[in-house]
Amino acid sequence: MEQVDNVNALRAFLVAARSSGQTVALVPTMGNVHEGHLSLVSWARGQTDLVVASIFVNPLQFGVNEDFTRYPRTLKEDSEKLHAAGVDLLYTPTVGSVYPNGSPPCVALRLSGDLAETLEGACRPGHFDGVATVVLILFNQVQPDLAVFGEKDWQQLAVIRHMVSDLSLQIAVTGRPTVREVDGLAMSSRNQYLSPKERTIASNLYLSLTSVVSALKDGRRDFASLCEGQVDLLSRLGFRIQYMEIRSPDLQMPEGRDEEFVVLVAGYLGRTRLIDCLYVDAKADDANL
Ligand code: PAJ
Repeated sequence: MEQVDNVNALRAFLVAARSSGQTVALVPTMGNVHEGHLSLVSWARGQTDLVVASIFVNPLQFGVNEDFTRYPRTLKEDSEKLHAAGVDLLYTPTVGSVYPNGSPPCVALRLSGDLAETLEGACRPGHFDGVATVVLILFNQVQPDLAVFGEKDWQQLAVIRHMVSDLSLQIAVTGRPTVREVDGLAMSSRNQYLSPKERTIASNLYLSLTSVVSALKDGRRDFASLCEGQVDLLSRLGFRIQYMEIRSPDLQMPEGRDEEFVVLVAGYLGRTRLIDCLYVDAKADDANL
């Protein structure tokens, strides 16, 4: 595995690869690599000749009171894990390589509309502007044929798909299922902020999602009260839930006759913000749990 930290070295590596006709996948991350990230890499390996993973803790997508400075930075371990998973090129750009004229850049993306302003967009104003801007820059730098994202961040994936379509980018975007701990907690770099006691409580977020999914499969369509019941339960366990909502897979408001849904939740347990979601096809035999 090669590792480069600037766009010139990145381009030099990729020019050589492209001239021999190789296809390229990009797996963008903020590092502190876990099995969720590695599952994206493993899948990408089967799709293209080369897999590029990036690690960049993007200042632009963190709000003022968020965890940018204390976000875990574990480059040595990350690089070993990504190497073992089969990454060909690890791109670890400096801030200057991503934002050569300083951050925030003069030219950035500004999202609008329901998709960007609801759920995570409402809780974290400007977050998706920062995500879309950095992902567009990474796309321009790497020029991948394929980019792979996790379904855990369902709305982020939807925003990226919109960006690709709105800006007419020639990149295939794939979402991959959420990798979970044995008790169901979605793997996340933020899980390590949890105290041991909080960690045991945290899996209830997943249990609540599975309860809502079961109810939807049983034919319940009282979306608001289904979620309210779970929010009450989670609140009693110590969560401060910001939202739990049932939406259509493209994040529109659901309708009673719909069969496919995604249940999305976000909130704090102590000082740690957790998000998770579950997709369900109510007419299929098995929920995608
Ligand atoms: P990060 O949180 O590091 O996640 C990188 C990628 O891994 C994202 O596509 C995310 O959805 C996926 N991922 C995270 N946890 C996962 C899990 N448990 N199972 C499967 N996939 C998982 O998301 C970001 O970074 C950033 O916003 C980024 C897209 C890199 C832009 O800065």
